[in-house]
Amino acid sequence: MKRIQIREIKGLSFEASAEKEEIVKISGWVDVRRDHGKLIFIDLRDATGKVQLVVLPSEKEAHQIADTVRPEWVIEVEGEAKRRPDNMANADSELGGFEVLVKKISVLNEAKTPPFEIGTDGYEVGEEVRLKYRYLDLRRERLQKNIRDRYRALKFIRDYLTDKDFVEIETPILTKSTPEGARDFVVPSRTQKGKFYALPQSPQQYKQLLMASGFEKYFQIAKCMRDEDTRSDRQPEFTQLDMEMAFTEKEDIMNLNEALIIGMVKELMPEKKIKEIPFPRLPFKEVMEKYGTDRPDLREDKNDPNELAFCWVVDFPFFEKNDKGGWTFTHNPFSAPAKEYEEMLMKKENVGEIIATQYDLVLNGFEIAGGSIRNHRPEALKKVFEILGFSDEEIGKNFGHMLSAFEYGAPPHGGIAFGLDRIVAILKNEPSIREVIAFPKTGDSRDLMMDAPSEISQEQLDELGIEIKKNKD
Ligand code: AMO
Repeated sequence: MKRIQIREIKGLSFEASAEKEEIVKISGWVDVRRDHGKLIFIDLRDATGKVQLVVLPSEKEAHQIADTVRPEWVIEVEGEAKRRPDNMANADSELGGFEVLVKKISVLNEAKTPPFEIGTDGYEVGEEVRLKYRYLDLRRERLQKNIRDRYRALKFIRDYLTDKDFVEIETPILTKSTPEGARDFVVPSRTQKGKFYALPQSPQQYKQLLMASGFEKYFQIAKCMRDEDTRSDRQPEFTQLDMEMAFTEKEDIMNLNEALIIGMVKELMPEKKIKEIPFPRLPFKEVMEKYGTDRPDLREDKNDPNELAFCWVVDFPFFEKNDKGGWTFTHNPFSAPAKEYEEMLMKKENVGEIIATQYDLVLNGFEIAGGSIRNHRPEALKKVFEILGFSDEEIGKNFGHMLSAFEYGAPPHGGIAFGLDRIVAILKNEPSIREVIAFPKTGDSRDLMMDAPSEISQEQLDELGIEIKKNKD
């Protein structure tokens, strides 16, 4: 049985003391207070659960204080832990079988009336107010569970990969802006005026450089930043489980990650049913013809909250035409083509037919991961950039570090990255990844609680050598 957190209890656990009717000292938040004539009941809440406090009028001082306390006040109580009579026990709550007869109450902090109900699931509250008072919103049971279950998923992943000899390595947050997908968030440099760092859209280049460094099995729970429009499954700042391995094949990576996800679901969410194991592997062309999307929702019953339909989508085209008539990559410029298309890439022939080693993992209609085997030979990587229309000078400026690293014996390698927020949101049946991120941004990328982004002082601007263009209208 889960225990309410005991701060001081004469060396006995609450369970034991509850059996023996010992004096306990506990603290937490007032969840609900009910006046029953002279009797006052308080549901006390802490990180481990709730327990009912009973304050009798005979405990004069405690009763007087109990009369004043309001929801969300923080209190400490001393009292006698008692088993409730069976007909009074509350079966819905884990501590429902116990109550504490209060002898003493101290108020540790008062609370203003919260701007919304905390005892509800919160879906009925407007997002603006929820995010402005996120620290209160997070007190609700649903969000407490979401954030704790997210941590359980992270811990499972860390333990699983550590057991398989992976090393977790942090990569820089202040890095270089390179043209590889979404718009970058940039950070001005004070020491190099007029120059900018970019925040990473993913650790893609660093993890490949770590392969060139000989780490062979890398992973990271990595923050990624992309300046793109926010949606229910998209945040400007999100978390990836990022992974890369040397001397590996596509099948090794897919099998390892499939086993990781199945293991995680079985251990953390045994009530979930995975529709098909091994996950089906569907070629892009077939999926598009059959479902009209590369993120098919293969659930049999879309109303079943416990059905998980995974599939891998493979054999994506490497390139597609952009709106200017040139070529752009469909996923990742660092990917290798499938073996049989290597020659085509080297000759830059029939570019539109080249199939990439890319694999995406789809769950219930959402893309939850994507990865590929990479081009580890510099000549092949350079061909990709040529096809994308970069001049030699641009290739050198943007990707010279990668080409150079690969000239010193880079091993064959490949990897994958999961959108962690998306997986957790789907596993928790949440409609948006905001429900599983402690401090998410609004639809227009603002942090309403911290009021970010915000203006900075003239002094800071001067230090950075930045002048803000005044909007004329
Ligand atoms: P990709 O861009 O496909 O690949 O990202 C990997 C996974 O991250 C999730 N994701 C997001 N989640 C929330 N908000 C966003 N804005 C967002 N953008 C992406 C998705 C996606 O499948 N470096 C490569 C991976 C690799 O090849 O190893 C990469 O970043 O679930």
